[in-house]
Amino acid sequence: TIAPMINQIEHTPLMHDEDLLSSCKENNIIIMAWGPLLRGNMENQKIKEIAQKYNKSPAQILLRWNIQQNIIPIPKSKNPARLEENFFVFDFALEDKDMQILNSMNENHRTSYNPLTFDF
Ligand SMILES: NC(=O)c1ccc[n+]([C@@H]2O[C@H](COP(=O)([O-])OP(=O)(O)OC[C@H]3O[C@@H](n4cnc5c(N)ncnc54)[C@H](OP(=O)(O)O)[C@@H]3O)[C@@H](O)[C@H]2O)c1
Repeated sequence: TIAPMINQIEHTPLMHDEDLLSSCKENNIIIMAWGPLLRGNMENQKIKEIAQKYNKSPAQILLRWNIQQNIIPIPKSKNPARLEENFFVFDFALEDKDMQILNSMNENHRTSYNPLTFDF
């Protein structure tokens, strides 16, 4: 009888599940994105080009992409300079066309196990 308030899932431009997102939205479940920085593997040409356009880092582009969808990203860094960098994502907005480019990059690329098939 108690609905979940948050669903923490892997959600990046390379891995996003539109059915799951819309199902959560319909049920007022907030999405929290783990591993939002592709777990540090951000050597992607399209992401780098968008970062250059906004004079931001690839990490900031990935965080902003989540925030503009009302999704809560939880990046991790042990480096103080990168921690600070990751907070500076509220002074710019990605244009719709750049959101679309990022949305079009889905490859169902998981950096960890698929929770639907993992043997818990
Ligand atoms: N629910 C789950 O199944 C699940 C699974 C995985 C993770 N999580 C949680 O999600 C959080 C994030 O996951 P994660 O650490 O695996 O992945 P992540 O946040 O996508 O990536 C972390 C990596 O990115 C690097 N990084 C951070 N900021 C950066 C920046 N501005 N520029 C370049 N590199 C940067 C970090 O290195 P440095 O530390 O050296 O900066 C680290 O190697 C964690 O707190 C974790 O607990 C949950």
